[in-house]
Amino acid sequence: MGGGPRLLVKRDDAIGFAFGGNKVRKMRLVAADALARQADTLITCGGVQSNHARVTAAAAARLGLRCVLVANGARPDRPTANALLARLLGAEIRYVPTREARALEMEAAAAEERAAAREPYLIPIGASTPLGAAAYVHALTELLEQIDPPDVIIHSTSSGGTQAGLVAGCALAGIRSRVVGISADESAATLAADVRRILSGLADLIGPGSDAHARALAGAEVEIDDRFVGDGYGVPTPQSQAAIDLLARTEALFLDPTYTAKAMAGLLARLRAGELEDADTVLFWHTGGQVALFS
Ligand SMILES: Cc1ncc(COP(=O)(O)O)c(C=O)c1O
Repeated sequence: MGGGPRLLVKRDDAIGFAFGGNKVRKMRLVAADALARQADTLITCGGVQSNHARVTAAAAARLGLRCVLVANGARPDRPTANALLARLLGAEIRYVPTREARALEMEAAAAEERAAAREPYLIPIGASTPLGAAAYVHALTELLEQIDPPDVIIHSTSSGGTQAGLVAGCALAGIRSRVVGISADESAATLAADVRRILSGLADLIGPGSDAHARALAGAEVEIDDRFVGDGYGVPTPQSQAAIDLLARTEALFLDPTYTAKAMAGLLARLRAGELEDADTVLFWHTGGQVALFS
């Protein structure tokens, strides 16, 4: 970039299980909870190209569980990328026309499982429950074992769990790294409310009696930038396409079009606008999703 801050990348795209990404970290905790509750079917939802759905199907396959995915969108004639992997992983995939229709279809699937004497476990969108977000508290701890706290962490945000975990991780570790979530779809106000809700759930998860922790989480700053969404979720922008090209051609790093390319577009725009200090260390948290390049 011709000078400026020190730039680092945390490579959750390089997590090995099922093509990796942030959803693998969340799924480790969420699937463990499903097993602890004697569940035998994982049910979740997402878009047709959902990374979270792919990882849920992969966890189910590996753990010997059934998996039902509710996908909003049209059934593809020839599944590609995440849709192809979900099918290979043996998930039952049900299609609904809209995002709003997903919850009812998940409930219907759960009722059918119970009627067949099975024990379903419903995972909300993106596994962004307090438990799923706790995976990013752990991830932040892992980062601090690797490097000194960066001045700024920039990452893609959508269902809020990754950001809630990182913000909580920083607050609990008592470090002052700024966490900036670049929205993949929602407005900053909507997402900030989502992240705050998950943070309050995380405080409950940490347990009663830890008032200091609860206060640290409630008082933590939630910074979201929604200027890079463009025409909407999954729709490329000139800046996101340029970010994909730049990272591939200079670092052989692959960004995905829906999440990480827009987050990197946000980082590059801030860099070019001189909004990041030369003396700063800026960490881009690569949350994966590169499978979607093949959709
Ligand atoms: C590749 C990728 N990056 C980032 C995100 C956003 O993470 P979160 O849903 O925890 O906000 C998602 C999922 O929504 C994703 O699949």
